[in-house]
Amino acid sequence: MSIAIICNQKDPAPWQKALQQRLPDTSIEVFPNISNFEAVEFLICWKPKAGDFAQFSNLKVVQSLGAGVDHIFGVGSVPRHLQVTRIVDPQLAQDMWTFLAALVLAQMKHLTHYYNQQQQKIWAQKPYKPVQESQILILGLGAIGAYVAEQFAQFGFSVTGWSNSPKSIPGVTSIFKNTELSNALQTCDFLINILPLTPTTTGILNHQLFKQLQHTYLINVGRGQHLVEADLLPALNANWLSGCHLDVFQQEPLPPSHPFWTHPKISITPHIASLTNIKTSINQIVYNYEAFRKSQALEHLVDLEKGY
Ligand code: OXD
Repeated sequence: MSIAIICNQKDPAPWQKALQQRLPDTSIEVFPNISNFEAVEFLICWKPKAGDFAQFSNLKVVQSLGAGVDHIFGVGSVPRHLQVTRIVDPQLAQDMWTFLAALVLAQMKHLTHYYNQQQQKIWAQKPYKPVQESQILILGLGAIGAYVAEQFAQFGFSVTGWSNSPKSIPGVTSIFKNTELSNALQTCDFLINILPLTPTTTGILNHQLFKQLQHTYLINVGRGQHLVEADLLPALNANWLSGCHLDVFQQEPLPPSHPFWTHPKISITPHIASLTNIKTSINQIVYNYEAFRKSQALEHLVDLEKGY
């Protein structure tokens, strides 16, 4: 039995090295340089390509290298006998929180605005809302969303979280019905998307949703496919959105010709909000591999029906 790593848009070498140190007697190879495809039962992957899985005739487990698994489901149907698992790591949640806190605070304090003023030597103050008057609406209260929501609430923000089912998170108003979502959209200062990508959530950031906002700042750290790109600029022009920060895109890397790059109200980061940390997540992968070898239950299994 051996392990293969499929890794696109991330360097597989540090993962291979770290795994080899922990599992010295196991063959761990990086796709497509696999000496014996039939021996691979455990596949670790990030952004596989269509047809990759079919080359492994004895595959039993697919371990995502990230919290998301849409990159696995997005390349074709996943055979029902496969066990798909994902990373659930407190470090991922903490990194997401610090990224979002930096964005929200910079926006509240108008830091980009003052940076631009400095270039022109302009001395002009702009009013700001204090934390306790600022409302944050978070779409998605999974392991990461729930942690982020709780941290913003502890910081003093008024926080509402929208998810499939009601959640109990200290200091956070949990909503799950569409009517409740409409009310929350009308009053939020910040709208943060951390939903998993599924057929139901694809395109959720669209005209219908945007038109319920009033000068809200949007942050998308979910997936590019959550956003209907054609609906974004009209929403910015209509002032439903005051601006937005996008960390994820339908096509990554974002092509140089894409209009989002140069729009004055859009800021962009290269899918960096929260990167899987090898040191803190390697234990989970090793645990799952060893559990699989002993025919024991794996951790953080994905529901193949729900897709998350
Ligand atoms: C993830 C990601 O899914 O980095 O972990 O987007």
